[in-house]
Amino acid sequence: MAIREIIILPDKQLRLVSKPVEKVTTEIRKLADDMFETMYDAPGIGLAAIQVAQPLRLITMDLAKKDENGETKPKPRVFINPEIISSSEEMSIYEEGCLSIPEYYEEVERPARVRIRYTDLDGKVHEEDADGLFATCIQHEIDHLNGVLFVDYLSKLKRDRVMKKFAKAAKRAAG
Ligand code: NI
Repeated sequence: MAIREIIILPDKQLRLVSKPVEKVTTEIRKLADDMFETMYDAPGIGLAAIQVAQPLRLITMDLAKKDENGETKPKPRVFINPEIISSSEEMSIYEEGCLSIPEYYEEVERPARVRIRYTDLDGKVHEEDADGLFATCIQHEIDHLNGVLFVDYLSKLKRDRVMKKFAKAAKRAAG
C-alpha cells in the first residue's frame, strides 16, 4: 500500500467525469488499498479515485464511529460504479468538507435518503438504502465522479470566494 497525493482546488482534474470500472483487476484492488491508506492518513471519511488523479468510478469510505471505549474499529467500504437510483423528497443539511478543498467547511442541503446501486471488489452488484451521514457522504463522493464539488451548491458569492482563495494559494505555492 502507498499513500498517494491528493489533488486540491483549483486542479482541473477535479472537473473530469470519471470512467466506469470495467473489471475489478489487481490494479483496481491496489488503487482501492492505496486510497484507504491515503484517506486514513489525511484523515478523511470518503475519497473518490479522481482525488488521487485516477478518473475511475471508484469510491472508498469509512464512517466508523468511536465505541464506548473511545476506540474506532475500521469499517472500510468500497463502491465501484455507484449510482443513485432514487432520492427522497425530504432534504437534510450537513456541514461538509472535502480533502480536495482543505480546511473549508459549509452546510449543504441534499436529499436525506438515497437508494444506491454499486459493485463491490468481488464484482458483485448490490442495492442499498442510505440515510444520515452515509447518504450525504455517498452523494458527495458520487458528485466527484461527475466533476461536481460541494462548493457548487453554495451561493455564487461564497463559491467565488473559496475558488479565489485556492487559486491564490496555488499561485503562491508555484512562486
Ligand atoms: Ni470531496
